[in-house]
Amino acid sequence: FTSRAADINLWHNSTLYKIQKRGVLRVGLNAGYMPFEMRSKTGKIIGFDVDMAKLMAKAMGVKLKIVNTDWDGIIPALMTNKFDIIMSGMTITQKRNLKVNFADPYIVVGQTVLVNKKWAGKIKSYKDLNDPKFTVTVMLGTTGDFAAKKYISKAKIQEFQTEEEAVMQVMQGRADAFVYDKPYESIFYSNKGKGKLIFLDKPFTYEPLGWAINKGDPDFLNWLNNFLRQIKHDGTYDKVYKKWFVN
Ligand code: ARG
Repeated sequence: FTSRAADINLWHNSTLYKIQKRGVLRVGLNAGYMPFEMRSKTGKIIGFDVDMAKLMAKAMGVKLKIVNTDWDGIIPALMTNKFDIIMSGMTITQKRNLKVNFADPYIVVGQTVLVNKKWAGKIKSYKDLNDPKFTVTVMLGTTGDFAAKKYISKAKIQEFQTEEEAVMQVMQGRADAFVYDKPYESIFYSNKGKGKLIFLDKPFTYEPLGWAINKGDPDFLNWLNNFLRQIKHDGTYDKVYKKWFVN
């Protein structure tokens, strides 16, 4: 290769080039994480990430295909090319970042706790849960799972495939607390949790969320970061944010 030919070869191997040739952006996500991706009453997948994905496809001039995937296998699915990008409220962790690349953070969240109301006045912080007498639920493979194992390791930790299953254990009194990202917990609490749960809403972790793509693709990463900067400053991002986060 001359160096120019090598550049063209790199570009033609970029996922961004392939998306344009295909005319379709394939977005991997795991529906269930309110308000980022969830099912509407009619079963459609909607949410903050979905609206971002629509804007992204539009900016690329291609169609959008949503690929709903188990959270547990979402990184392997990206790595085996089941879709082009993960837009699923994924926390940028150093461990995940060894396998995938992340665009710049599009929002920052943290872990919070929903506690069964029988513990009102007794459990005031996640630290109070660090005792073998408590059962804490988490969603398998999430940062809630990792945070519980790290900071509440003395409690009995139960992993579930979905957020819904994990939180319902606490609602029904079969577990004491559910550790998860603040946006989900705050929506769940206002919709169904009042009078049944206590919401410890002060985040105890720092979690920037980012879109994940396969490694070795500087062209795609460059496009994503410039797209994100643009929508964050031209009012587009704020409009979508208000739609899903302000009630
Ligand atoms: N931010 C958390 C994590 O990265 C939870 C994200 C879960 N996303 C989802 N679509 N279910 O582990």
